[in-house]
Amino acid sequence: MQETKIIVPPIKCQGIKTKIVPFIRDHVVRDEQGLWIEPFVGTGVVAFNIAPQRALLIDKNQYIILLYQGIQNGSITPQTIREFLEYHGAVLEQRGAEYYREMRDSFNQNGDPLFFLFLNRSDFNGMIRFNRQGKFNVPFCQKPNRFSKAYITKICNQVAKVGEIMRDKDWVFKCGSWKDAFFNASESDYIYLDPPYIGRDTSYVGEWPEEEAIALADYSKKTPANVCLSMWRENEFRRNEHLYEHWSDFMWYECEHFYHIGAKETNRHPMMEVLAIKR
Ligand SMILES: C[S@@+](CC[C@H](N)C(=O)[O-])C[C@H]1O[C@@H](n2cnc3c(N)ncnc32)[C@H](O)[C@@H]1O
Repeated sequence: MQETKIIVPPIKCQGIKTKIVPFIRDHVVRDEQGLWIEPFVGTGVVAFNIAPQRALLIDKNQYIILLYQGIQNGSITPQTIREFLEYHGAVLEQRGAEYYREMRDSFNQNGDPLFFLFLNRSDFNGMIRFNRQGKFNVPFCQKPNRFSKAYITKICNQVAKVGEIMRDKDWVFKCGSWKDAFFNASESDYIYLDPPYIGRDTSYVGEWPEEEAIALADYSKKTPANVCLSMWRENEFRRNEHLYEHWSDFMWYECEHFYHIGAKETNRHPMMEVLAIKR
């Protein structure tokens, strides 16, 4: 695996691919002139580390897209983020969980991406989850002093770094459905897919019904572009039948990944992850 440093984005989410970025990077062989297409871009960690010249980055989470569009067009900078987090972090330190809930209520009214970042970096486990009405509902991490100076600086540096990577690149961030990614995709393009994991908890992204997962497999087979899917293959309890049924025409490359249940480091569970690549 390559030893290159991993870029860590300012957003967190469950299922973030930071740990397997080297594995992904090693297996992605693409035409550098082609478009990098990511319909489930999430935190953007894969795109930031692949750093293609041209990219179409889609997610149905509009707040992530608004945040990255803002960083890209310069309306959101490390400085605006520092001021925002310093101000609200200081009030959070005084008022604790009650203030976190106030910020969450405000965000659910105003949809401001800075509020989203504040919540994402002070909620329980950096989770992203919305209820059926589309309201963000993750509880507080219970650390009122969450936004220490060092933590804010770390976030601002992450923002600066992703801003630097996007600069002078032809990247389009778009809020939409994964299907948008397949229109006009050509043979020289590369589509990286990291959909919600079927058969596992997907409450953080809303519904990911089996019909969608099957449609994604069909689109992937039909598009002239190359496609690489990240998916779980099996854990200690069961295997992912969907993968065997719908993605067996692709080449599978495996890597073992550990995830934690709850906060205990010792409570590690192995999971076999697969990259299923069309050609
Ligand atoms: C597993 S996460 C992607 C994680 C990302 N690769 C990373 O490392 O940060 C799945 C993403 O798909 C998005 N998503 C879920 N359903 C979608 C849909 N129908 N169309 C587009 N995006 C969707 C979610 O908002 C979430 O950000």
